[in-house]
Amino acid sequence: MTISYHRPTKAVIDLNAIQQNVTQEQQQHPDKKVFAVVKADGYGHGAISVASAALAAGAEGFCTATLDEAIELRCNEFTQPILILGIIAPSDAPLAAVYNLSVPVAEINWLQEAAKYFHDTSLKLHIHIKADTGMGRIGFLDTKEINQAVKWMEQEENFYWEGIFTHFATADQVDVQYFQAQTQCFNDILQALPYKPDYIHTANSATAMWHQDVGNMVRLGVAMYGLNPSGTDLEPPYPLQPALSLVSEIVQTKKLPKGYGIGYGKTYETKEEEWIATIPIGYADGYTRNLQGFNVLINGQSCEVVGRVCMDQIMVRLPKKIDEGTQVTLVGKNGGKEISLQDIAAYEGTNNYEVACLISTRVPREYVGKG
Ligand SMILES: Cc1ncc(COP(=O)(O)O)c(C=O)c1O
Repeated sequence: MTISYHRPTKAVIDLNAIQQNVTQEQQQHPDKKVFAVVKADGYGHGAISVASAALAAGAEGFCTATLDEAIELRCNEFTQPILILGIIAPSDAPLAAVYNLSVPVAEINWLQEAAKYFHDTSLKLHIHIKADTGMGRIGFLDTKEINQAVKWMEQEENFYWEGIFTHFATADQVDVQYFQAQTQCFNDILQALPYKPDYIHTANSATAMWHQDVGNMVRLGVAMYGLNPSGTDLEPPYPLQPALSLVSEIVQTKKLPKGYGIGYGKTYETKEEEWIATIPIGYADGYTRNLQGFNVLINGQSCEVVGRVCMDQIMVRLPKKIDEGTQVTLVGKNGGKEISLQDIAAYEGTNNYEVACLISTRVPREYVGKG
């Protein structure tokens, strides 16, 4: 999608906030390495700029979801360890090795299949064994199979066993019972290992914030962006600094008579003579259709989104005439008021991760702060 620079709508990313959030985590766990999770273009914040900021704050590695995301970091001269969190194709294993990347393995067949694609004994792929301890997603279920995979790698020149990890399903919830069962399962796996690899890791943001874990590394995602992984269920142990604001400007203000229809389907009709403004953001920008009835901030006042959200525009009801060109805050602070990504998520019935990720590439990212 073309980035639309000639339009007042933009996402402003505060790199100082990213740095502060990384620093806070490091102060909580000085004994653990922070790997900054920059998948999905840094949760919509921009992977490259976020990676630079995280690095400046002391992150020692990165996690991506895909091989291409990892290669993008390498092409931007990030030389630190990079762990891909998703399964790559066995045929891409040599490519991952060329770029000196680490990949997860969830079954021994994958290793045996990937081995067929290596024709150069000097290439070494770094492997993190993924244990499924109750997430039901990728990962070995069987301890014996994990140990077989370790043995198998010892005999193969193209593979280096670098890590073992798991992922928790409920680390962001008040009830810790399931978390504890997963922990127990992972500890049993660790006990059965013939020896320990360089990296042992279980912690996402929520685990790092609210639990003790056995690992020596944290995969820090949403908290680095200043967002609470639990939504509002749990209080963060340190203040999070949200990094992203979403702003635009009024492109037209007009007074409409009573009974005038607004937007597709005429789902809103003016109740009296009303001032209606049009803002150039819509669902193609990630401002989704179910935000009808939600608010934006203009001059420190909440203004309701009236009528359906269009692909590229929304209409809002103003308390009085407000000039065209006036700034509109869709996410962030404005005149003493604030709308958070979490507020939007709550209104939409989703989580703050999704709201951030959905801000589309059409919206330019502007960076403020040191980075
Ligand atoms: C395996 C894995 N580790 C770590 C993370 C980062 O999680 P969070 O953003 O909650 O810190 C994710 C994100 O989805 C993940 O899938």
